[in-house]
Amino acid sequence: MCGIVGYTGTREATPVLVEGLHRLEYRGYDSAGVAVLRRGKVGVTKTAGRVRDLRDRLAESPPNPATVGIAHTRWATHGEPSDRNAHPHLDTEGRIAVVHNGIIENAEQLRARLTARGVELVSETDTEALAHMIAAELAAADSLEDAVRAALRHVEGTYGLVVLDRTRPDELVVARNGSPIVLGVGDGEMFVASDVAALVHHTQRVVFLDDGELATVHPGGYRTSTLEARRTSKEPTTVELAADDYELGGHSDFMRKEMAEQPEAVARALRGRLDDRFATAHLGGLGLDPMALRAVRRVKFLGCGSAYYAGQMGATLVEELARIPADAEPASEFRYRDPVVDPDTLYVAISQSGETLDTLAAVQELRRKGGRVIGAVNVVGSAIARECGSGVFLHAGPEVSVASTKALTNMTVSFAMLALLLGRVRDLSAAAGLRVVTGLRALPERIEEVLADDERVREVAKRYAHARHMFFLGRVRGWPVAREGAQKLKEISYVHAEAYQAAELKHGPLALIDADMPSVVLVPDDDLLAKNIGTIEQIKARGGPVIAVTNAELPAGLADEVLRVPRGEPELDPILLTVPLQLLAYHIAAELGRDIDKPRNLAKSVTVE
Ligand code: F6R
Repeated sequence: MCGIVGYTGTREATPVLVEGLHRLEYRGYDSAGVAVLRRGKVGVTKTAGRVRDLRDRLAESPPNPATVGIAHTRWATHGEPSDRNAHPHLDTEGRIAVVHNGIIENAEQLRARLTARGVELVSETDTEALAHMIAAELAAADSLEDAVRAALRHVEGTYGLVVLDRTRPDELVVARNGSPIVLGVGDGEMFVASDVAALVHHTQRVVFLDDGELATVHPGGYRTSTLEARRTSKEPTTVELAADDYELGGHSDFMRKEMAEQPEAVARALRGRLDDRFATAHLGGLGLDPMALRAVRRVKFLGCGSAYYAGQMGATLVEELARIPADAEPASEFRYRDPVVDPDTLYVAISQSGETLDTLAAVQELRRKGGRVIGAVNVVGSAIARECGSGVFLHAGPEVSVASTKALTNMTVSFAMLALLLGRVRDLSAAAGLRVVTGLRALPERIEEVLADDERVREVAKRYAHARHMFFLGRVRGWPVAREGAQKLKEISYVHAEAYQAAELKHGPLALIDADMPSVVLVPDDDLLAKNIGTIEQIKARGGPVIAVTNAELPAGLADEVLRVPRGEPELDPILLTVPLQLLAYHIAAELGRDIDKPRNLAKSVTVE
């Protein structure tokens, strides 16, 4: 969603800011803007549309050698995407410029209060109110930081924000509550961003602000404090991300690159975590000793969208390997149903970005009620990782494409290790444990084999790309895979796809089967093989085309198309079966000419409700 970049140093700020915005484009946005400060004047350029439109607009005015500035990509919440509503926003005098991520919940009251005082608001946004409020506090404040702090006392909601003051030529003030803000420490220059992706080209030394924290940033460094004006001390940490992690590296788009990276991403997730001697996994970040692991009586996975489906795969793995009840629930619903939080349940909050507001809110609800929650998060230093405090990092590397692929795979791989660990402190035998360890270790190579079948999947995709609807069907292990397959197709191709448990078909949806309704059926070679073959026969008998995704030998001519995956340990089949569905969605979207990395209406991290 929205992106923030700030810079203060000795370089020309505008190119640094615009390049930073480019790197945040993947998050999804609908307008962009920049404000730079030079000789006591704040110059603002903004536009509805893409960062390239902003660049074009900037090119129309004379170059501005300013060395301090702030910039933003906006994903509309209060007011339509327009030049007027784009950030940065200014106060009436043009002294204060603000960029802001998040949502000010009492914006209506704040705006009404300002209007009553005679302030003329020029946009429909919540952010503009902040600019006026900060400006109003300046008279009584000792510093810009104090003015920001005083203004924020009236604010309810979430924010990551950066403020520029016309009278302070090289200073930025930054604040965070619920929307990530990270400082990048350079040599005689400082960067600010909502996501390290915008910084790693310049520096890998970063400082993650906590909720309720502010920072004053100038070229020589930074100081941090709380909303209550208590000093905090924050040392920079080094992020292990390289600039080219965010480059296409010869691939046509990021989804393709990230699918191709899955073997190496899985190998990274497994590294140092598999134990042959005791046929188990080591997940040191969980912070749970064997006694604590044994005390877990139930596991509940919470996540949104694909992360939720990965959680469902995780729940199946835990039930199979550890024989303790497990389930998954959409994190977006959790806090609203006044959940019964059970002290013997291990809750697992799943998130690639670590920023998804609904998942973060579920974690906060759990912690408030004394639940034990661990994170399964990709982005180190993210809000969910920090709120959980313990868990398992996914090590998928940065994921830029909106459609999650490698992170999702690493979620399921991590849950297989968690299930193995929980199983091995219970009744899972060493032989069974070793079988899973061996299966996990073989995964990178097996995923490589699935990816090598790309051309075959492309041919199938071409044949079905113009279907208006598709079913995705699976049983037990195949059911979350079907859901994920339908999700991937919907989001990047805009083809309507619905997932059903295969056995549910005959209870209603079978009425929709005809020659124009292809079904993708997941057919792992497990105890339910005969049942899945029966499902395919029922569909074929009604003239429905079938694409079977399988590691079994199916009767010749049973399905119209067969996409094969290698045979592995049956419990791990969902991981391999997911990959051809990514490829299928990808090639259908490509055939339909979609913008694969940036599907319409979607954002990479959903930091609003
Ligand atoms: C689908 C997709 C989304 C995310 C969901 C949660 O491809 O990417 O459904 O899985 O928005 O995002 P994270 O994992 O960042 O919490």
